[in-house]
Amino acid sequence: MEIKVTLASPGNMREKPGDESSLGFGKIFSDHMFVMRYREGTGWHKPQIVPYGPLALDPAAMVLHYGQEIFEGLKSYRGPGGSLCLFRPEKNFERMNLSARRLCMPQIPVGDALDAVTTLLRVDRGWIPASRGTSLYIRPTMIATEAGLGVRPSAEYLFYIITGPVGSYYARGPEPVRILVEETYVRAVRGGLGEAKAGANYAASLLASKNAKESGYDQVLWLSADGREEVEEVGTMNIFFVIGDEVVTPPLSGSILPGVTRDSVLTLAREWKIPVTERPVEIGEVMRGAADGTLSEAFGTGTAAVISPVGSFSCGGREVMVQRSLTGKLSRRFYDEITGIQYGELEDRHRWVHRVE
Ligand SMILES: Cc1ncc(COP(=O)(O)O)c(C=O)c1O
Repeated sequence: MEIKVTLASPGNMREKPGDESSLGFGKIFSDHMFVMRYREGTGWHKPQIVPYGPLALDPAAMVLHYGQEIFEGLKSYRGPGGSLCLFRPEKNFERMNLSARRLCMPQIPVGDALDAVTTLLRVDRGWIPASRGTSLYIRPTMIATEAGLGVRPSAEYLFYIITGPVGSYYARGPEPVRILVEETYVRAVRGGLGEAKAGANYAASLLASKNAKESGYDQVLWLSADGREEVEEVGTMNIFFVIGDEVVTPPLSGSILPGVTRDSVLTLAREWKIPVTERPVEIGEVMRGAADGTLSEAFGTGTAAVISPVGSFSCGGREVMVQRSLTGKLSRRFYDEITGIQYGELEDRHRWVHRVE
């Protein structure tokens, strides 16, 4: 794919953050973005890198009315000697194509998407922070741009990628969080959009997570829409439990996002010969197991935190601690292994790291 590059003029360069310890998440954006348009009959055309800036959209653009929007989230890390590394980027673009199929949006060849992201990283190389734990967050996004109010799939789309430096999620390794089991609202239903990374899912999640935070919890545990019994996800992460000597996670039943970190944890557990099972987990089993100690660890997995140990679950007014609210041994082991591979410090046995020259 031939990508035209138009660099920001020196006077229009954005100010780089000086202090890497206070980057936060999603507030600072790099100098450039990748954009590419799609029209039915023409296909994808005009791939370009341009200075970061506002998009011009018709007020009738379909994304603004019927929510045809999907996105991805991945990170670029500084490896040994300042090299640039991506962690399993092809998995994100394969998932983006699954999301696109569900929302009647066009497929993007994974090779083209990887070209786009690596070209953008080379242009904005100077934006990738260096300290351990920091990274450059990458947000590929696709929106429906055709102007029209008829309810049908758009004939025109914009695919763009923006990036920005983000801080370390933890100051001193993973810290356990307080979780509220959400019994009123659901994030997704089987047959709905839950397994797609569509903005609509996040809109559906906002009220429950706002209420939980106002009540002093860090995040919510999502239950299945049919019956509110089976555990699905935690906040914007997949969920794992250590029950007895087994690692257990709910199966990808249609309403759960197939996380890249989830897949990495499953692969490592199998490699380490730890029994793993993908099976439905009922909230009753979680509350009983945490109380009687058969559930020794629970943790969320996702790109942002990698591993987020759960310190307690609160359900129907009763709060139970997991592992006295300390970070469990396996949570720590998965965290150290995955972050070690991401930063190029541990052997990449599964060829997960993609180096950008
Ligand atoms: C709803 C939801 N589930 C799970 C995940 C974890 O996916 P991944 O490990 O690919 O980041 C994410 C985050 O990206 C998410 O938004």
